Order: sequence, then C-alpha cells, then structure tokens
Amino acid sequence: MYARSARIYDLLYTGTRIKDYATEADVLHAIIQRVHPGARTLLDVACGTGAHLAFLRERYEVAGADVSPEMLAVASERLGDDVPLEVADMRTLHLGRRFDAVTCLFSGIGYVLDADGLRQTMRRSADHVNVGGVLIVDDSSGVRAALRVALEVDGRFQVVGEAGDGNEAVAWARMLKPDVILLDLLMPGCDGHSALPQLREASPDSVVVILSSVHPSEVSPQDSLWAGAVLDKAADLASVVERIEQLRAVAGG
Ligand SMILES: C[S@@+](CC[C@H](N)C(=O)[O-])C[C@H]1O[C@@H](n2cnc3c(N)ncnc32)[C@H](O)[C@@H]1O
Repeated sequence: MYARSARIYDLLYTGTRIKDYATEADVLHAIIQRVHPGARTLLDVACGTGAHLAFLRERYEVAGADVSPEMLAVASERLGDDVPLEVADMRTLHLGRRFDAVTCLFSGIGYVLDADGLRQTMRRSADHVNVGGVLIVDDSSGVRAALRVALEVDGRFQVVGEAGDGNEAVAWARMLKPDVILLDLLMPGCDGHSALPQLREASPDSVVVILSSVHPSEVSPQDSLWAGAVLDKAADLASVVERIEQLRAVAGG
C-alpha cells in the first residue's frame, strides 16, 4: 500500500491547499486539551508521512505507526530521528508503551474494512493509552478547576479528566480507568448517588472518593460502602489532597 505513491501522496496533501495539517493539528490539540489537559505524549496510528506529527510535536512528545514502510520513510525525512516511527498494522499494534493520547487521522481507520478488524484496532489502540490518574466529577466548573490546581500543584497526581455529571463520569471512567474518582454527590441529572454503582462496574479498580457538601455523617450507608472514603468539601484542600494520596497508596495506585 502506497509503495509507489508515498511521495506523490505527500506532495499532493502537503504541497497544495487540499489539506491544512497545521490547522488540523491545532483543532486536535484543542480537543485533547478539553478532555485531557495534562496530556504530554501522543501516538498517531496510520500516521502516513507524518504531516500531523510535524505540528503536534511542538506540543507533545510524539510517535507514529503505519503499515507502509514507504510512507514512514517520508515521515522519517520530515521528522528526523527524534520521533520514533514503527512499521505496524493498527489491528495488531504492540509498541510496548502507552501514551496520553492515541489518534488516527484523515480516514486512516477507513482502511480497516470489517467489524472484527475495527474491534481489534480499537482494542489495540486502547491498550496503548495511559490509564490511572484522577477523574474529577463535580457540576461546578469552579470546584473542578480548584481541585485540579490543588492536585497538580501537589505534584503527585495527574488529573486525567473532568466530568460535570454522573453519566459523563461513567463514560470517562470506563475509558480512562483512573486510580481515583473524586465524586460530588449533589449534581443535576445523574447525581453521584446514582452514578456510584455504575462507576464501580465501569472501573472496578478505581478508588471512588465522595467529596461533597453533604456532611459525611449524612451520606447513606450504601454510598459509604460503595465509596473508598467520604470527605467533606468544606475541609481544607491540602488535607483533602493528603487523604486522597493515602487512599491511592493503600489501593496500590
Ligand atoms: C489516507 S492515509 C492518512 C495518513 C495520515 N494520517 C494523514 O493524515 O496524512 C491512510 C494511512 O493509513 C495507513 N494504513 C492503512 N491500513 C493500515 C493498517 N492496517 N495499519 C496501519 N496503517 C494503515 C496507510 O499506509 C496510510 O498511510
């Protein structure tokens, strides 16, 4: 595939106005930062001639994989020796390391033509995504921001995601498998109480820490049982952070 046309492909898409890789990389960066602001590393699967990576490398430590050695040869000329590039089929990809973000751009995924191949590709991609870190669940963006800053300034935590209600939290937990889920109880829509059993099912190894304005003594025994700990939102932030670290350490996170 692309054995004889890698250079033509590259000229066509980077040497004309058909595509704007710089803008696409900007858009992608904005999307990644929205869902995972701490992301530092990125793998581009089916990276072709590395045209997105040339821009993404300004923001991430990047790597690329593609089934075509000829496409990667052009990518290598573009990116130099600093960027690891691997000849690999996305359905059987195994690089032996994980990344904060995995992308597959410009219809690369369209080359996988059957449902089994798509399932394999998604599984292999998921196995290259870093798991762990902290997921913050609170309907107040101000509270989420304050917690993120406190955790990141502390230096021992990576905040991998934020959710504004229980449904969002369950979806992110299923994907990110965080070490710790900080869960507010009182939220509009799916609240923390309703989300708890689903979070346990979505990510059984995560420590769920209820962090709520509901006083710990008023949290239902069932919720207390499901959660690893119940903390008071009114408590001093430094002591909350310390307690989270203790819980994570006990859970082996
Ligand atoms: C349309 S190009 C996109 C390349 C690049 N992402 C871009 O935006 O220019 C599709 C790429 O998918 C790669 N590809 C096709 N099937 C693949 C597979 N099974 N595993 C990995 N790469 C594959 C091709 O070699 C090609 O480089």
